[in-house]
Amino acid sequence: PTLLLLSPPPCINPISSPGLARLEYRGYDSAGLAVDGDRKNEVFAFKEVGKVAALKKLIEEEKPDMTKVFDNHAGIAHTRWATHGSPSRVNCHPHRSDPTWQFAVVHNGIITNYKELRALLESKGFKFETETDTEAIAKLAKYIYDEHPTIDFTTLAKAVIKELAGAFGLLLKSVHYPGEVVAARKGSPLVVGVRTQKKMKVDFVDVEFQENDIPLPAETASHNVALRKTNNLLAPPDKASLLHRSQSRAFLSDDGVPQPTEFFLSSDPSAIVEHTKKVLYLEDDDIAHIHEGQLNIHRLSKTDGTSNVRAIQTIEIELQEIMKGRFDHFMQKEIFEQPESVVNAMRGRLNLEAKTITLGGLRQHMTTIRRCRRLIFIACGTSYHSCMAVRGCFEELTEIPISVELASDFLDRQAPVFRDDTCVFVSQSGETADSLMALRYCLERGALTVGIVNVVGSSISMMTHCGVHINAGPEIGVASTKAYTSQFVCMVMFALSLAEDRASKYQRRMEIMEGLGRVSEQFKEILKMDQDIKELCQKFVSSMKTAPDFRSAGTDSICRFKHQKSLLLLGRGAQHATALEGALKIKEISYMHCEAVMSGELKHGVLALVDESLPIVMILTRDNIFAKSLNAYQQVIARKGRPIVICNTGDKEFPGEKTDRIEVPHTVDVLQGLLNVIPLQLMAYWLAVGEGLNVDFPRNLAKSVTVE
Ligand code: G6P
Repeated sequence: PTLLLLSPPPCINPISSPGLARLEYRGYDSAGLAVDGDRKNEVFAFKEVGKVAALKKLIEEEKPDMTKVFDNHAGIAHTRWATHGSPSRVNCHPHRSDPTWQFAVVHNGIITNYKELRALLESKGFKFETETDTEAIAKLAKYIYDEHPTIDFTTLAKAVIKELAGAFGLLLKSVHYPGEVVAARKGSPLVVGVRTQKKMKVDFVDVEFQENDIPLPAETASHNVALRKTNNLLAPPDKASLLHRSQSRAFLSDDGVPQPTEFFLSSDPSAIVEHTKKVLYLEDDDIAHIHEGQLNIHRLSKTDGTSNVRAIQTIEIELQEIMKGRFDHFMQKEIFEQPESVVNAMRGRLNLEAKTITLGGLRQHMTTIRRCRRLIFIACGTSYHSCMAVRGCFEELTEIPISVELASDFLDRQAPVFRDDTCVFVSQSGETADSLMALRYCLERGALTVGIVNVVGSSISMMTHCGVHINAGPEIGVASTKAYTSQFVCMVMFALSLAEDRASKYQRRMEIMEGLGRVSEQFKEILKMDQDIKELCQKFVSSMKTAPDFRSAGTDSICRFKHQKSLLLLGRGAQHATALEGALKIKEISYMHCEAVMSGELKHGVLALVDESLPIVMILTRDNIFAKSLNAYQQVIARKGRPIVICNTGDKEFPGEKTDRIEVPHTVDVLQGLLNVIPLQLMAYWLAVGEGLNVDFPRNLAKSVTVE
């Protein structure tokens, strides 16, 4: 799920602003908003199942003058990816404290103690309307407010947040505090956009901590079990501390004049980039209060060593980067961006003339990493596959034991981690909850942590000791493409850097560096096959009737895959990772069951599936295990299978008349997977398009999964 606030005083309507829809890629099963009305205690709230467009339609029908209502008022809005409770209008955010919307909340993450909170609040007479965990937050706010009607909004929010266990990025508004909004984060990202009319002088915001500004003794912070037992929550607030409101930092222009300032809050800068490029990232346990054009940031506790300022940064995302341009889908655009995105990953790092690699973000820690006991790569989804793809390269170049772990499984096992381990966290978003939790786990055990992340300012990039930004630019398509190839390239550069001091690897390193220098051009070559791959895919598409060209060709090879519900993807060595990634792409967006099989394992069971009709794609590019890969090919042919083969350009081993071929240029073995994955990305794309599916918004999925 994801959220967005357009704060006062800007006259921005969350519905006409494209910001909310820009967040859809992170969750799109329903959308909703709540805004202040003109009259006291008036709130307009709308919720609809489906995408933001459906919400807009509903509002146009029910309240056509809504644009006017939004002027100069605070609003919160949300697009949802359902975790607790099915996608329905009632479960959609914002959630409310009561039918009059005294408190409204939007929330990303999961409140793990919501059942206890719900039971407590029900015992106090609250009636719950939804199946969500979020509703408890709004009701808890009202409960505390009713007990302390003179409390200020920040203090109230702190009291609420102290009772929440789990992860959250949330926004809270209330009719009791018109024009004010509180934002809080713990484990789920929140970014604040800042816009002034003139150039800003300040480049940071102070963070305040006031020892006694919460009407709760510290021990009640141990979540609501304590709350229920002691009922300390109802202790009278400390009046003195309530009077002591924190000082705001005014935003000054160059000539020192306070500037009227507008604030935008979002889980992702892409929603606010068209309003401002000045942002600051909230950290865990930050509570931001926006009121009358001012922003105060408070800390929930004073315990940690976090900085007491939040720097205002300029984000570099250009609007066109988050628009589709001439492409039909973001995924397609991102596939076609890869010749540039890999160059951006190498820019300023790979120097082909001097034959050097400079990874500034790792420099200080390189010696420690070279001496580590193990390199553990930890990731989820596509990012996990990119780790699998480079494992052999690391083993060969560094001779350090390597393990590659799925973050969730790593945590489930509570796998041993030591101070002399180096743990590498690979993540496009830098916010995946499973990866983040594994990162915390490794930090607690004293390991050195490295981030390989795309999103600058994301939690993983901030929490790791050092790292590399892959610089792929915003990736919007839920199915990751350019992030995979850029992660791959960055990790190969990482391995090359680690092996810099090994004379025995010199030639090999040179060979790989030269290979890296050719990747972009080779990508361009492969992308030229787009239309051929589209045609090939029509063989699999059940709506083949719409492809008359195919039928008129009339060979049985053309029809044999029709109506197939399953596909096998075979690869060996590093190409097993390519097969895994290709299979994930196909599953994610075409909903066709697709299984990646390590070719060597074919004969140990999967061969039983093979017959003349099962669609099979085999990765058979030339490397040192090519002869073994060929065995699997022969085994498939012997069972009348007719695989589609991904092979090197001009390879005579697979005669065109017998086999459907997808030709890719040859490169150094450790980089071949970079090239081989592109036709599979295109296949996934065209399979999904052929089935009439919405490629950028596959059902049930979200781009960034910030829940466990
Ligand atoms: C989600 C996305 C996947 C992605 C995975 C890991 O499941 O749908 O496409 O690979 O998360 O995301 P990360 O941002 O950590 O790379």
